[in-house]
Amino acid sequence: MRKVDTYRIPSSGEAREKLREKGQFWTPDWVAEAMIEYVFADKDGMLFDPAVGAGAFFRAAKAISKERGVHYSLSGMDIDAKALDEAIQYGLFKGDMKDVKIGDFIFQPPKRQFSAIVANPPYIRHHRISLATKEKLKRLSLESTGKVLDGRAGLHIYFLIRSLTLLEDGGRLAFIMPADTCEGKFADDLWNWISRNYCLDAVVTFAPQASPFPNVDTNPLVFFIRNDKPTGKFTWAKCCKSETDAFKLWVRSGFSVNSPNIFKSFVRDLTEGLQTGFSRPPMTEKPSKYVLGDFVQVVRGVATGANDFFFLTDEKVEALGIPKTYFVQAVGRTRDISTEEVTQETLAVLREKGRPTLLLSLSSDPFENYPESLKKYLLHGEKLGLPQRPLISQRKPWYKTEIRRVPPFLFAYLGRRNIRFIRNTAQIIPLTGFLCVYPKSEEKEFVERLWKILNHPDTIGNLALIGKSYGNGAIKVEPRALEKLPIPDNLIKEFGLPIQMRLFEQKETYKVSTKNQTGATL
Ligand SMILES: C[S@@+](CC[C@H](N)C(=O)[O-])C[C@H]1O[C@@H](n2cnc3c(N)ncnc32)[C@H](O)[C@@H]1O
Repeated sequence: MRKVDTYRIPSSGEAREKLREKGQFWTPDWVAEAMIEYVFADKDGMLFDPAVGAGAFFRAAKAISKERGVHYSLSGMDIDAKALDEAIQYGLFKGDMKDVKIGDFIFQPPKRQFSAIVANPPYIRHHRISLATKEKLKRLSLESTGKVLDGRAGLHIYFLIRSLTLLEDGGRLAFIMPADTCEGKFADDLWNWISRNYCLDAVVTFAPQASPFPNVDTNPLVFFIRNDKPTGKFTWAKCCKSETDAFKLWVRSGFSVNSPNIFKSFVRDLTEGLQTGFSRPPMTEKPSKYVLGDFVQVVRGVATGANDFFFLTDEKVEALGIPKTYFVQAVGRTRDISTEEVTQETLAVLREKGRPTLLLSLSSDPFENYPESLKKYLLHGEKLGLPQRPLISQRKPWYKTEIRRVPPFLFAYLGRRNIRFIRNTAQIIPLTGFLCVYPKSEEKEFVERLWKILNHPDTIGNLALIGKSYGNGAIKVEPRALEKLPIPDNLIKEFGLPIQMRLFEQKETYKVSTKNQTGATL
């Protein structure tokens, strides 16, 4: 029997791409057994896995049946017959697979209900789903939940919805899902429906070092849900060590026996959990009075649609002979700035390393007015087919990239150690690796105080409350979410930002009103 390669990430890009299209990541035994432990009630029944793959849950079901002396028959589906062949290599028998149907679970679901459903559904993000399929998924969510979910919900969300509707009264479901299930735009609608109609018994999170899928760019959670009346409470757990029995034994104990340093759990209020998000621990502090958006505006960096063409090195610009006045200084990658400040020295180092720092930034001047060298370069871009690329085709003319004011601060929005605010002393324009942060007041005193708050550990600590979590403890923060970052009350008190801003606003109003009366600023 082959040893199961649970998170088999192929090294070649092509193979990885294929794997992603079908969402084929196998669940390790120590997690599969804990999930089966929950869905197996004490009586016998039928287990259904809508995405069988290499049969992790079937193997776990056989092991747990033996340990507990219960008998569950095995049934399931998978879209890919080849994945089922792997199940045989991993120790299952043909007979174990006899009730596995090859087909699409979402659109050809079984016509019966089950007492036990378990899954690691395919994590297929929305941008891999065709428009026609998205339309059908919208209809499915409307029929099941009464709402059309935001289009960013991936296929795994519809696996969960479909499976919940196939659960018998009192039946149990265990799903391992990426954290976007409770952090995505669609999460409020999804969980309002689940929490009104089902009983969420428990949510299990994993510390980065204990991830069931190491090196995969997702933060997985396990949800344990019963088709029963909601209770208003649920148990929340954090697993800190992988490959142990602690998770399974915790489930077997009815979510009560913790293992010090390995598995910790406690009961939470459902309303609080819904508000905070199930991927996050409860907020212990009372909510802050101010959020970052009270003091700044956040805009994402420039998306060129073709960095190779628009974002160039000094040598390339010199070789092309295009005057530098047609460029602005820019930085593309988060790792190009390793400190909390981007200065002219940072740019000099990047130039020395051969990294691009010049972004083609054209105004609305007519094409004829450009120098020959620039005209030639733009015609070359046309030959490359750039004007037809999705993002670029929306611009008129195609070569006019987005214009941004120089932001006093940048925010590196993806990473674990790298997530931070950066002071933009070099006055660069960032590309999409960063967010632009514009203080609402340009007063020097205000900007200085704001800077002290931005990189304060208490502020940075709050990023986990608003960001989306990925693998290895990485967090990603979108512009609107960053504006919702709570600023701890003690920092507001220490640095007096609202007062500073009010003083500035009063000055501004004064300037405007005197201007109106006299036609000139006094
Ligand atoms: C993440 S794997 C999980 C497999 C296995 N249950 C485990 O946990 O190791 C998801 C499986 O879903 C299958 N799949 C993808 N789309 C599907 C669909 N529409 N209907 C049924 N199965 C599908 C894939 O072929 C893959 O085997």
